[in-house]
Amino acid sequence: MPVETKPQAATVAAARDNREKMLERAMSRYHYSGDALIEVLHTAQELYGFLSPDLLNTIARKLKLPPSRVLGVATFYHFFSLAPKGEHSMTVCLGTACYVAGSLGLMNTLEHRCAKAGTTSPDGKVSVGAARCIGACGIAPAVIYDGRIMGRVTQEQLNKELDRIGVK
Ligand code: FES
Repeated sequence: MPVETKPQAATVAAARDNREKMLERAMSRYHYSGDALIEVLHTAQELYGFLSPDLLNTIARKLKLPPSRVLGVATFYHFFSLAPKGEHSMTVCLGTACYVAGSLGLMNTLEHRCAKAGTTSPDGKVSVGAARCIGACGIAPAVIYDGRIMGRVTQEQLNKELDRIGVK
């Protein structure tokens, strides 16, 4: 994985802000209606990789729903994850810009070495995810690695990082 240098750190920070903005935009698109809870939870999980308690509380507040209802929905559906399942999580963006820049190859590597998208490797090391555009098209192909957006990820960097964290 690329090491965060100062200019890249600024890009990463901007991309993180984008995640908040994108979630806000998704809720606004549904007029902050509680009826759109599942769609909003999907967007939140795509952006953050999993639904943390803070994230669920924010969504409950913004959609004016009781937190218990939001938690109930998030736990009812198996496709929502309330915690990063593996020691590490890697979510590959498969949106158009990232796809064109080679993100499918990154996903294939992760699926080959770790696990299918949406699951965790048998050794518990890495949870693999796929997302649509995560708002970091300028640094495509992008991977959300342990909650941080990494840009311009190459196959070589990904393989090196998998080696480094002990993936066979
Ligand atoms: S398509 Fe990947 S960040 Fe936009």
